[in-house]
Amino acid sequence: MFKLTRIPAMMIAASLVFIGSAQAAGDAAKERQAVMKQNGAAIRALAQMAKGQTPFDAAAAQLAMRTMNTAALGFGYMFPEGSETGSKTRAAPAIWSDRAGFDAAVAKYIAATSVTISDLGGLKAAMGAVGPNCGSCHKAYRTE
Ligand code: HEC
Repeated sequence: MFKLTRIPAMMIAASLVFIGSAQAAGDAAKERQAVMKQNGAAIRALAQMAKGQTPFDAAAAQLAMRTMNTAALGFGYMFPEGSETGSKTRAAPAIWSDRAGFDAAVAKYIAATSVTISDLGGLKAAMGAVGPNCGSCHKAYRTE
């Protein structure tokens, strides 16, 4: 069902696909892998701050969280038919056979990353909510 609230997400997805296609010649698997790499870099920066390995910086924390949220908003649109194989994709067949479940995992991830971080306590709480999404989605929708 097409909902009005999906328009911003679609616009972001369209721009991500546009940017990605300039780099990867319309290769959806390469595009989503690049988005996931940014995800990994963002959560590493947040984890270091949460553990006190780097000083807490509200602006940097918020930027990293926004990076993950933008990735989450576009991610559901990056698995078109025909991108099930190729480009060393580790996307599991379940993404296409259980699209509703995958969409629900993406929606959960969008919700967890839609937060504002203003202090270290907030960062730790946000990490507690965001972190489990990575593993649970990979377990269900990414191959070994
Ligand atoms: C809604 C599902 C979902 C969530 C949530 C998710 N991922 Fe992923 N991730 C995937 C899928 C699917 C792939 C495989 C993509 C492919 O190879 O086509 C992947 C691949 C990756 C990769 C490998 C990218 C590459 O170079 O091939 C990294 C790193 C990664 N995810 C990190 C993360 C981190 C960190 C988080 C949490 C902050 C996260 N992911 C959350 C589904 C998800």
